[in-house]
Amino acid sequence: MASGAFAESGADLELVGIQKRFPGFTAIEHLDLTIPAGSFFALLGPSGCGKTTTLRLVAGLEDPTEGRVLIGGKDVTKLKPYQRPVNTVFQSYALFPHMTVLENVAFGLRRRHIADPLGKAHEALRLVELDHLATRKPQQLSGGQQQRVALARAVVNRPALLLLDEPLGALDLKLRRQMQLELKSIQEEVGLTFVHVTHDQEEAMTMADTVAVMNKGEIEQLGAPQELYELPRTAFVANFLGQSNLFTGKVTGTTSSAITVDIEGVKIIVPSKRAQRHTGEVTVGVRPEKLHLLLKAPKVDSSVNVLGPGRIIDVSFSGVSTQYILTIPGIGKVTVFQQNMSSGPLAHEGSEVWVSWDVEHGFGLADEPAASPKFSADTDTATIALQKKQALMSELEEA
Ligand SMILES: Nc1ncnc2c1ncn2[C@@H]1O[C@H](COP(=O)(O)OP(=O)(O)OP(=O)(O)O)[C@@H](O)[C@H]1O
Ligand SMILES: [Mg+2]
Repeated sequence: MASGAFAESGADLELVGIQKRFPGFTAIEHLDLTIPAGSFFALLGPSGCGKTTTLRLVAGLEDPTEGRVLIGGKDVTKLKPYQRPVNTVFQSYALFPHMTVLENVAFGLRRRHIADPLGKAHEALRLVELDHLATRKPQQLSGGQQQRVALARAVVNRPALLLLDEPLGALDLKLRRQMQLELKSIQEEVGLTFVHVTHDQEEAMTMADTVAVMNKGEIEQLGAPQELYELPRTAFVANFLGQSNLFTGKVTGTTSSAITVDIEGVKIIVPSKRAQRHTGEVTVGVRPEKLHLLLKAPKVDSSVNVLGPGRIIDVSFSGVSTQYILTIPGIGKVTVFQQNMSSGPLAHEGSEVWVSWDVEHGFGLADEPAASPKFSADTDTATIALQKKQALMSELEEA
C-alpha cells in the first residue's frame, strides 16, 4: 500500500449479485451494492439481518456462494483477507495487552515493513487525540480510549476501505455521541471509504452520507439519511428509521398531483410524487412530529389532512418533546410528538382531540398492504441496541 499523508482517498466498493448460504441457512439471497470512494456509508438493520456477514464477505473472511466483490474496480473475490486493501474494526476491539498503545498502533506497519512505523503511529494517535497516552498499556485506558486506539490501529494502515462493525456498541450514550462526531471528522480528514454497521438509527443518520436499511439479507432502501427519513418506501423502513403512523385504505381518486385514499370513510390526500403506488389498497403514513394536535375540529382545507375526534390515552414527557398517543374510532392508534414550547402539556389523558398534517408531509408506501406484516414493536432499534449492549456486557464479565 502506498505511504504518505493520511489524505489519501478510499476506493469504491461494489458487491455484485452476492448470495451467501450457510449450511441450512441463506443469510443473503441477492445483494447488489455500490459504495462510492470516500463516502461514509452506514448499513443499518435489525439483529440477524446479515450486516456482519456482508462485512465479512468484503473483508474476505467469508466466501460468497455466488457473486463478486470489487474494490476500486478490481475483483478481489478470490483474494485472501490480508491481500485486500481493507481493515476492520470489530465490536470487540482486541488490543495486544502486553504492548503499549504506540506499539499496538505500529504493529501492522512493522509487520508489512512500512518505513517509519512509530512516526506514522504517532500521527494516527494524534488523529484520535490519544498521542499523550502513547506509552500506556491498553488496560490503563478507559473503554472509549481503547476503542479509539483500535480505530487508530486500523486507520494507520490507510486501508482503501475501513469496515466498522458496531465499533461504538460498548460505549455509554454520551461517549458514543462524542465518538460519532470524532469518527465522522476522522473520515473527512483521511478521505477513506468507511462502511459502518449499526443497529442505531440515530447513529446511522448522524454519521453517514448514505444509509442502507437492510432486512433479512436484502437492502430495502438506500439513500441520503434525510431522503430515507422523509420518504420511506416500505413499512419496514418507515418504522425502523424513526416512527411512523401508517394507515391502510383504498385509492378512491387520482389527479395529476395527488391521490385520495379512503381510510374507514376518512379521505386522506397524499401527493402523487410522494406515493409509490397510485391504485388499489395502499398504506400511507406520516411522521409523529409532523402532526398538529388540536382541541377543536379544524376548518376543512384541501391542503391539510385531518383525523378525529379521538381520545388521548397516553401522555409522556421526554424533555424536548411530549409524546401523545390517541385512539381514533375506526382508525386506531396515532402517535404525535410535540415540541415543548409552553410549560405543561397541551392536552391530557382523556382529552378529545383532532390531528392534522400538511398534505405535503404524507407518504405512500410500496408494500402490498396484505403482504406487509406489521412491524413488531419489540424489535425497534433502541431495544436491539440495548440487548446487544447487555449481551456484550455479560460476555465481558464472563471473560
Ligand atoms: N457461520 C454461520 N452458519 C450459519 N448461519 C450463520 C453463520 N453466520 C451467520 N449466520 C446467520 O446469518 C444471519 C445473519 O447473521 P449476521 O451475523 O450477518 O447478522 P447481523 O445483521 O450482523 O446481526 P447482529 O446485529 O445481531 O450482529 C443470522 O441469522 C445468523 O444466524
Ligand atoms: Mg453483526
